[in-house]
Amino acid sequence: MNHLIGHLPPLPRHATDSQALLTTGDVEALLWMYRRVEPHCDTAEVGTFYGGSAVLGAMWARDRGTRHWCIDEFGLVGSKFPWEPSMEIAWAHLRAEDLHRYAVLVAGDVETAGLAFGDGVFGAVFIDSDHTPEQAPIDMAWARRVTVSDGLVALHDLHGDNRYPGYQEAVEGLVAQWGWTEAFAAGSVKVYRLPRGGEA
Ligand SMILES: C[S@@+](CC[C@H](N)C(=O)[O-])C[C@H]1O[C@@H](n2cnc3c(N)ncnc32)[C@H](O)[C@@H]1O
Repeated sequence: MNHLIGHLPPLPRHATDSQALLTTGDVEALLWMYRRVEPHCDTAEVGTFYGGSAVLGAMWARDRGTRHWCIDEFGLVGSKFPWEPSMEIAWAHLRAEDLHRYAVLVAGDVETAGLAFGDGVFGAVFIDSDHTPEQAPIDMAWARRVTVSDGLVALHDLHGDNRYPGYQEAVEGLVAQWGWTEAFAAGSVKVYRLPRGGEA
């Protein structure tokens, strides 16, 4: 798929065609975001699966000398796909690109694993977990807490259709309420800039 991304730098193969969950436009939006992260800042994502987005985050974390933290249920008992070996597969993809030192895979969700992170520590957060109107606000509230003032939060699967009923409305309602501004959009990813000083 790399040949489709003409104006972007060469990407690790596993960022694009290991599993076609991220489109070329999605990748463009994520690269736009990760390139704008402050030099010292780690980044994070919620929803990793086989590691396509993790590879992208880790690639830019390597350039910054930081880490990309990936929270996912990773097939834990009680998750939607128990015993799914997604963590092993994500590690395999990261290792294949020699990026495994720049990622941390954390099993759980933002209400469990997410508690491990302090306020205002990440330069950017990507949310691609459970696309429901119930879970999106929980993930977004976590992203709001852990992202630096004036930082960036991206969400996946904002297609503008009703693929995930209630999801887009829930996201856009909170974006307006919290004063996030749309900074970039491509594919089904929208990147929002959080207000300076945290609260809107
Ligand atoms: C669409 S996939 C993520 C795809 C990934 N970003 C990529 O680039 O390939 C969604 C992932 O979210 C995880 N997930 C679902 N609900 C979750 C939750 N509440 N917290 C954390 N992860 C969740 C699933 O285990 C699944 O691996």
